[in-house]
Formats: sequence, C-alpha cells, structure tokens
Amino acid sequence: MPAKPKFYLTTPIYYTNGLPHIGHTYTTVVADVIRRYKRMRGYQVVMTTGTDEHGVNVERAAKNAGVPESEFVAKMADAWRALWEELGLSAEEFVRTTDLRHVRTVQWLFKLCRENGYVYKGHYTGQYCIYDNAFVNDAKPGDNCPDCGRPTETLTEENYFFKLSAFQKPLLDFYKKNPDFIQPESRKNEIVSFVEGGLKDLSITRTTVRWGIPVPGEEPHVFYVWFDALTAYLSAVGGPDYEKRGMWPADLHLVGKDIIRFHTVYWPAFLMAAMLPVPKQVWAHGWFLMDASKMSKSKGNVVLPRPIANMLGMDALRYFLLREVAFGQDGNFSYDALVTRYNSDLANGLGNLASRTAAMIEKTFAGKIPKAGKLEAADEALARETQAGIGEVLDYFEKMNFARALESLWTVIAAADKYLTTQKPWSLGDSEADMQRKANILATTAELLRIVTVLAHPVLPDSTAKIWTLLGQPGSVCAVELDGLRWGQLTTGAPLGKPQTLFPRVEKSEAIERIESMANEELNPSTAPAPAPATATSAGSGAAAAPAASEKIGIEDFAKVEMRVGQIKTAERIVGADKLLKLTVDIGTEIRQICAGIAQFYEPDSLIGRKVAVVTNLAPRKLRGVVSNGMIIAASVGPEGRPVLAGFPEDVEIGARLK
Ligand code: MSP
Repeated sequence: MPAKPKFYLTTPIYYTNGLPHIGHTYTTVVADVIRRYKRMRGYQVVMTTGTDEHGVNVERAAKNAGVPESEFVAKMADAWRALWEELGLSAEEFVRTTDLRHVRTVQWLFKLCRENGYVYKGHYTGQYCIYDNAFVNDAKPGDNCPDCGRPTETLTEENYFFKLSAFQKPLLDFYKKNPDFIQPESRKNEIVSFVEGGLKDLSITRTTVRWGIPVPGEEPHVFYVWFDALTAYLSAVGGPDYEKRGMWPADLHLVGKDIIRFHTVYWPAFLMAAMLPVPKQVWAHGWFLMDASKMSKSKGNVVLPRPIANMLGMDALRYFLLREVAFGQDGNFSYDALVTRYNSDLANGLGNLASRTAAMIEKTFAGKIPKAGKLEAADEALARETQAGIGEVLDYFEKMNFARALESLWTVIAAADKYLTTQKPWSLGDSEADMQRKANILATTAELLRIVTVLAHPVLPDSTAKIWTLLGQPGSVCAVELDGLRWGQLTTGAPLGKPQTLFPRVEKSEAIERIESMANEELNPSTAPAPAPATATSAGSGAAAAPAASEKIGIEDFAKVEMRVGQIKTAERIVGADKLLKLTVDIGTEIRQICAGIAQFYEPDSLIGRKVAVVTNLAPRKLRGVVSNGMIIAASVGPEGRPVLAGFPEDVEIGARLK
C-alpha cells in the first residue's frame, strides 16, 4: 500500500495568562475538524497546539500568585491541556515554549540565521516602564504605561536584530509563487501592501526580560516573543531533526486575524534566513465577538466552552461555531442563536431524522434495514440529490467554507424530511406491494442518513458515531474514506444498534440560564456558590448550595458577605427569560442593576418602592446577557422553591448594613 500523504496543521500556541474561552476554542475546533476531515481523505495527520509561556506578563502573573514562573506556567499548561482533553480536542502534539525540545530548536534556528548573516547586534530604544520592568510597545516619549499608568522612560538596550528588511523581495516573490499561502484573499492583499511598504529590522532578543529562553553564550539576552513563539510549530515535529519526523513544513497554520502578520511575514522570513522549508498555508479566521466587542474577563463578557459542552454537548458547540459564521469573517456569539440552532438543526433536524428512521425500521422490519427493490422516481430523485450533495459538501470543505458545507448537508436532511412527509410510509399497509414500498422508502432514507453521517463526522464526531452504530453499519464512521463515498453502499440486513439519545430538545430560556450560571461559577468560583440566578431562592435550581449542616463557618466568613437594605426603583421583565426580572435597586450609595429569578411570582409593578435585603459585594455576572450586580435575598418556599422576598416589618434606612 502506498504511504499516506502527510498533513501537518497547527493552532496558535496560547498565552498562559488565562484559560481558554470560545475564541481559542474556535481555532482549536476548526483545527480538529480539518484533522478529522483530512484523515477521512486518506492523509496521515498531525495537529499541534500548545502554550506560549515566556515574557513579562508571565513574570508578573507568577509574582502576583507568589509562585516561581516555572510552577505558574506548568499549572496553566496542565489546565489548558486538560480542558482540550475534556472537550475532545487533544492534539497529537502539545508544545510548551518551556519544553527542552523547544528551547533547543529556538537556539538552533537563531544559530542558523546568524551563520547565514541575518542577525546582528544593535541597540533598541523604546519607552520603558521602570515599575513593570518592561518596554511599552509603540509608546512615544511622554506616554504613560498602559498597565500601571505611570510615566515611561526612554531606555536603550542592547538587542540582537533580525534583518527582516532583507526579505522584502524574497517575501513578495514567495507570495507571488504561492498564491494560496495567505488565506483568505482579503488578508493577502493587506499583507502584500504591508510588505510592499518596506520592512524594518526586528529586535529578537531582550536583556530587560528575565523569563525567556537564553541566547547561548550571550546572557542576559533572552529571545523575545515571536522568535520564540513561532518556532514552537517546528519544535513540535522534530526541531533540528525535523526531516526524520517527515512532517515539516506545516501544511496549514490556523490563526486568528490578529496574528496573521507574524505568521506570514516574520515566520517565513526566519525560515528563509535559516534555509528551512516554509509552511504551505496560513489561514486567518475572524473573531467571535460578544456584544460586538472583544471578549475580556474584566468586561465580564467571556464565553466559556465547558458550560456549553455540559449543557448541549460538544458537538453542538462545534456545529454552532462552524455553521454560524463564515470562516474568515467576524461574528457575534449569542447564547440565543446557539440554542436556537441546536433545537432547529440538531434536535429537530439530524437527531429527529435519525431517530424516526430507526424507529420506523424497528417497527416495520424488526430492526433490520430492508433491501430496496426497484426504485420509484421520488426515491431516485432523492438519491441524485444526495449524491450531488456529496460533491458539494466536499468541495466546500476543501475551500474551508464550513458554514456552506453544513448548509448543503442540511439541505439534504431537509430533503429527506420532505420525502418522508410526501411518501408517508406510515400510511401504507401490510400487502406485499406496500411492504416493498415501505422497504424502498426506509432503505432510501437510511442510505441518505448514512451519507449525511459520514459527511458530518468531522464536525459532529460523537453524535455521528452514535448514528453509525444505530444504523448497524460496519466498522467506525471515522474509517470511511470520503473519496469513495457514494450512494448505494448501505449495509442492509444487519440489526440496528440500540436507540441513542442524540440531541434532546431543550427549553431555550432554561438552557441559557443553566449555561450562564455554570459559566458564572467557573469564572467566580469563590463568589458563586449556587448555580442560581441572582436571588437566594433560585428559580429552577431549587435551594442554593448551602454547606452541609455539620459544616460550620466562622463569623469571619459570614462577615465577608456584605448585605444592605435596598429599595427597588424599577422592575421589568427580560425578553426571552421568563424567570428573570431586571431591577434597579437603591442601596444607599448607588443605584444597582440586579437580576432576580422571581418573574414567575412577582408582578414587576408590585415591587416598586419595596425594601429588600441585598448582597452587595458579589462579583457582577451576566444573566441572559444582562449584567447583575448583586443579589436579592428571598426565602425558598415549598418543593418548587417559590421565592418570597425577605423584608422589614419596621421602617429601615436605605443602605443600612445587615449583620
Ligand atoms: N501566543 C500568541 C500566539 C503565538 S502563535 C506562535 C497569542 N496567543 S492568544 O492566547 O492570545 O491566542 C490567540 C489566538 O486565539 C488568536 O489568534 C485566535 O486564533 C484565538 N482567539 C482569541 N480570541 C478570539 C476571539 N474572540 N475569536 C476568535 N478567535 C480568537 O496570540
């Protein structure tokens, strides 16, 4: 058997100053989808992801955490790796920039660039913050440090420089010869004009940073940011011994649009300087935005992958990320859209088609897919449409147009639904002719479902594996070769597998509330003890998680909770969240916006002017997209946990502290 062609793809290596949010998950999901797709097209695939662990930010974060840098980054790298594993996204290679294999590769690459005459010692002058011990990129004399706000000083330090300026022409020639190197096309134009505008040499070492890879024999020089980080792609597949592993050059670097320049200008230039093979393609995708802005923990608008995977399954998240936004463009993330798509495309679409097909085969043909006889026009039309769908979907996958690939695939699913509705197998009787007609209809539907399952596998690995078993098809769906996929390969006669839960329908507002409360808990573990909206009596989740009766807390623990008398000023319902009310509450020092899970028990108007007990020092969190800054105390009454607001029989001053 001829050796399989290789395909090496990478995600960026992620910074260790935080944990993965939906943006990082997006890149990694896409990489995983391509990996699975390429395997089904006969490639031997290696995917690399990892962590970018050096630099001043890590020095600072470790200092704040009171641990050595090595300990800090080891913990973070473990957390990233563990999360990818939990989400089914582990790569073949997880490279850390503190790995010895990486340190050696960076030092080796530097040596090659230097021997070839592309490295020189010079001086770097920039604005430096003496409090944070760091240069402030792009700052001018007189600017303040963006981190601490104090004035920066002009400082000159000795650096090694990379002669990027020498690569203007080689890069432009390279782009011309390799028109697919930068994708999508719009980004390519941006990069070409940037390079045409002239390239400045690049400082690639620092003496003011301690936490970095040492430049051998040149201490205290350490490698600076991109020379270190980009090289990780090569370290992961052999470094200096890359030829032995046979994976280099990378076939595809997947990156966000924010870091395309580093990947399409610096990285090929470093490799050209070292006379090493240059990657084949860099694909820059857009951003997932929340409320039209970039996600950040301080804004309280990060979306986490785990709560979504827990609530709807990882396949649902994968499907949404790829289906919702055209690859390459920016898009907004919304829980509403996520759950809507889940219910319509997965629960009612694919999931429903699979379970009803299996149920009909179970009932009519004792759980074995029947053989089709002579097909009628309607069967043949569906077969033709499905066969055409195969070509279309594969074509879109090749072009990385995942949204379109899924749209085409779901057109095929819709065609099957329509076919069943018009053919009505359930209305046929037991005569020989009717039984044969039913056999044809169900075999045709099962064959369509088999093909859809194979094509959807890269995006929905778990659920398609379940459908494959349900259909009683031999082997595993991931082993099916896409190149040979066509109508007419259904294995009939084999018993169906056990019925499987695929995508249970969810109630939208309840699902969103649960996702948000899991996310709040993950983001603020110390301040979000209960998976509940912002009343002590959570709507839906019953009692808040109180410590067990035997678990006593000290007065100092109780004192940490700040409670005050508040007065409700306004109250309104939140569209799409039938359990929540949005309140504004005067707590003496300020008016706070607080969401409370009491909408099913209190009319908004009846609350105006009411004095309530408010927990005022909870970290703010978002419920159904609305910021809630505090919690109203209520009793939880009866088995359904009906909230009854705590109040004051005597008149009390607004803002008075509860003790
Ligand atoms: N460490 C550098 C990359 C070095 S690669 C040699 C870095 N790390 S990062 O943690 O900031 O992650 C950057 C990548 O995460 C982006 O390029 C993008 O792939 C992904 N995303 C982070 N936030 C994102 C969104 N909100 N939306 C989509 N992807 C984004 O830069």
